[in-house]
Amino acid sequence: MEDFVVWLSSYCLGNSKIDRQHQELVKMLNFLHYKICSGCPNKIIDEILIKLINYAENHFRDEEELMKIINYPNLPRHQKEHERLVIEVFEFKRRYEQKQVSKYDLLDFLRNWLINHILDQDLDIKRWLNTT
Ligand SMILES: [Fe+2]
Repeated sequence: MEDFVVWLSSYCLGNSKIDRQHQELVKMLNFLHYKICSGCPNKIIDEILIKLINYAENHFRDEEELMKIINYPNLPRHQKEHERLVIEVFEFKRRYEQKQVSKYDLLDFLRNWLINHILDQDLDIKRWLNTT
């Protein structure tokens, strides 16, 4: 099966820890996609989803640590974005659990959620990493 999300080298910030975590998130999302498409039981799907969200939350914390270390000027804004992302993902999870949205809606949501986070917000850190 083709990957649901293909990792592109243009997603790299140049910080190995953060890049590894982003790649891991993509891997987890691809795994979730694979399990959903192969008709895996809901209980397992839910476990993978929770793991992915937990991993993302830890990743946001690590990212905030890095931003502090490099004196990233947009840290408060980025922190708020992380908060918003967490609220947003739990809100979508709730809608999924209440069957207001399908598993495929969930996958689409997570893909946009993750890739927009990396491309819109995190790539701004890259600019700053390169100048310090
Ligand atoms: Fe990130």
